[in-house]
Amino acid sequence: MSKNEGLVESTEWQRLTGQAMQTKDTHLRQLFEADSKRGEKFSLKVGDIYLDYSKNHLNDDTLSLLLELAEKRRVSEQRGAMFTGEKINTTENRAVLHTALRDLSSGPVFVDDEDVMSGIKEVLDHMSDFAHSVRDGQWLGHTGMPIKNIVNIGIGGSDLGPVMVTEALHFYAKRDLHMHFVSNIDGTHIEETLRDLDPTETLFIIASKTFTTDETMTNAKTARGWVLHQLKDESAIAKHFVAVSTNESEVKKFGINPDNMFAFWDWVGGRYSLTSAIGLSIMLSIGPKHFRELLGGFEKMDTHFKTAPLSRNMPVLLALIGIWNTNFLGAENEAILPYEQYLHRFPAYLQQANMESNGKSVTKQGERVDYTTGPIIWGEPGTNGQHAFYQLIHQGTRLVPCDFIGFAQSLNDPDGTGAHHRKLIANMFAQSKALAFGKTADEVRVTDIPEELVQHKVFEGNRPSNTLLLTKLTPDTLGQLIALYEHKIFVQGVIWDIDSFDQWGVELGKVLAKDLYEKISSGEKVTGDSSTTSLAQEWQRLQ
Ligand code: F6P
Repeated sequence: MSKNEGLVESTEWQRLTGQAMQTKDTHLRQLFEADSKRGEKFSLKVGDIYLDYSKNHLNDDTLSLLLELAEKRRVSEQRGAMFTGEKINTTENRAVLHTALRDLSSGPVFVDDEDVMSGIKEVLDHMSDFAHSVRDGQWLGHTGMPIKNIVNIGIGGSDLGPVMVTEALHFYAKRDLHMHFVSNIDGTHIEETLRDLDPTETLFIIASKTFTTDETMTNAKTARGWVLHQLKDESAIAKHFVAVSTNESEVKKFGINPDNMFAFWDWVGGRYSLTSAIGLSIMLSIGPKHFRELLGGFEKMDTHFKTAPLSRNMPVLLALIGIWNTNFLGAENEAILPYEQYLHRFPAYLQQANMESNGKSVTKQGERVDYTTGPIIWGEPGTNGQHAFYQLIHQGTRLVPCDFIGFAQSLNDPDGTGAHHRKLIANMFAQSKALAFGKTADEVRVTDIPEELVQHKVFEGNRPSNTLLLTKLTPDTLGQLIALYEHKIFVQGVIWDIDSFDQWGVELGKVLAKDLYEKISSGEKVTGDSSTTSLAQEWQRLQ
């Protein structure tokens, strides 16, 4: 009998199911009334992150049962296996060592008996030298012009992490070096990006782990053509293109000088790669010193995750609360709500990190799971979301567990009074309060309103959320925050016994698209199912 067959039948799972039944009618209001110190009790501070998880439907027993589940699923053992380079990505037979990328200690980390740390250091130094030369204006384009624009061409993990962090840390950026990101195969993306740029002062980073991804290679070739069209000299490529990849032979074939290739390794998953050379655009934007501070923040959370007992381990707690909401309370999704404009791409980044990792329906042994796995991740920054979709979160019929993320100190104070930031944070606190405690019919009736409106104005409350309050948005604190979510995802994958580090679910669409591209390009009739056939015919008719 495989380990997984027993998950739902296991004592730990069954007891949690019982716990959910037993506590389902207890309102969050009652939980807070019963314990005046609940807010302090169900909170944890790690580094610069204060996590308040008190506004979840749980009590001491629930937490103990969840921790027993984590023990049963051997979370500590699996965590050790990841950090020490065991090949825990079993379907691809790969180690999962993004943590080594930010391991600033001097200890060795082995993959296949080889210490990977010297290679990591070498690439970091290469990136730093390059970033300094571009930022200082020493790296000159083909016609002798310094670089003013960087265009990162990549998609998925080779785009979302760099975009998110570059936006998040824009405050620390070199303002006269303009960062652009092209990902979509839709020609509009590259067309509109290059429209106002001058190739003599533009540098392209072709970021692709495999260097075969169709979107990236198509955009890279278009960029190459754009440069050559205007500079009319093949030797210009060496001055205007660098690559970040694991695939040296394809990089060479593209015509990029291997000296201008920044390597990484198959044990870095795409969506876990922003602290590898994939972060080159980030380093160019914020500089090597800030990049190292970002790595330092990641390392702080890695160390906490590796060493803290499960009961006081922030990624573990977040993961278990997510499991509780997903598997025992029936939530299908999680909303990520940063009250920080600089984090406006954080929800999109977490969509890939979480959904590509844990959107799986078979166990590591290939057996169909009989429980729910990764939730749908979505979100937008506050306060914008409040005026868009919060209505459904407050009064809709669905359960939407929310993560509110805010900072004690703001980086900007445009009117010099601090009012913007106080209003922002007051809104964040207000939202989690309204979600948890709501407003009863009696409270609604306190003001004189027509009886027929009462039910419309009632807020049931009892809606769960976590709040993460950080000191200030810096490279260091951002690193801590990202690593927190990375490890949360890992822990959930261990509990569900799925491979969080493969992504076979993206393959079928790629193969079908290739075939359909060939057919519609050659004018060949698309055959097969009647829907796709009709769509292709209609498309061909409209050409
Ligand atoms: O298709 C999905 C995916 O493989 C992601 O996992 C990855 O981040 C992205 O494509 C880009 O891949 P690459 O860096 O190899 O171009």
